[in-house]
Amino acid sequence: MSSRPKVYVTRRVPERIQSQLEELFEVTQHDAEAPPPRSELLAGASGQDGVVSMLSDVIDDEFLEAAGEELQVVANYAVGFDNVDVDACTRRGVIATNTPDVLTAATAELAVTLMLNVARRVGEGDRMLRARTPWIWSPTYMRGATLRGRLLGVVGLGRIGREVARIAEALGMRIVYTKASGTASDVPWEFVSFEEIVERADVISLHCPLTPETRHLVDADVLRAMKRSAYLVNTSRGPVIDEAALAEALETGEIAGAALDVFEREPEVHERLLQCESVVLAPHLGSATHETREAMGMLCVSALKAVLIEGRLPENALNRRITAKITH
Ligand code: DGY
Repeated sequence: MSSRPKVYVTRRVPERIQSQLEELFEVTQHDAEAPPPRSELLAGASGQDGVVSMLSDVIDDEFLEAAGEELQVVANYAVGFDNVDVDACTRRGVIATNTPDVLTAATAELAVTLMLNVARRVGEGDRMLRARTPWIWSPTYMRGATLRGRLLGVVGLGRIGREVARIAEALGMRIVYTKASGTASDVPWEFVSFEEIVERADVISLHCPLTPETRHLVDADVLRAMKRSAYLVNTSRGPVIDEAALAEALETGEIAGAALDVFEREPEVHERLLQCESVVLAPHLGSATHETREAMGMLCVSALKAVLIEGRLPENALNRRITAKITH
């Protein structure tokens, strides 16, 4: 009988991560890109020492109960952890971890890609050419907005928000930011209120975590208060925007456009957004580069190894004050 710790992996992972996991642990896995049904997720976690979870797996009391007493660590394959009830994990002595830092560059690059795409109408042009719509260059044809000189409002100045601001500055954009914990002393950009960003920014890029306070942060009132020429970019979490209100604002020209990598009810996309030319849609690609997804996986492997083999708290533990039941 194997003496290696037992780990349940809720999704297919890159090959290098798979072999690392198999080298160290006794792995059972939902080997598919689509998530397991809830019943399979709960059954899969039962009796395991560790779990590698994805951002769409809800790790709550019900999950922890189903997993049982053996569970010591849940390594979430994402930096965002709104799917994990960290307090519930703490109450049961389960360590929860995420994947900070390693996806900062990839996610910021995607946010800027979306920003340029929507401002320069690249997706719209691509769809038009594929539909074989007749076209010809003309001074008035398909004009968008130059980003140089425009004001970028960064909502949430964490690692990703800072990197977006840095890249945007290199494009010649001016930067203002807002963040829940107040001014950051180590950046040259102006701290303003959320309301001021909404009123002044030419592009608003969302980088805040999803919390009860940020759910529907961008609602009909906010969209109405934005400039008619402004763009909204979201690479954080879908529910930060009221999607129905956004669809309405785009249809009525209240704002110039939006670019979304995340959605309120992923993988569903609001039907009215699908019909809208002025929105760029991406299927949650923020961290989707080969090197980033491997680095995220390696952080999950190290967290499992730290807890289950080395008997120590991983650096990326979300519940750092836990009285953990590390038994090794
Ligand atoms: C995360 O890690 O939170 C990202 O949304 C994944 O792409």
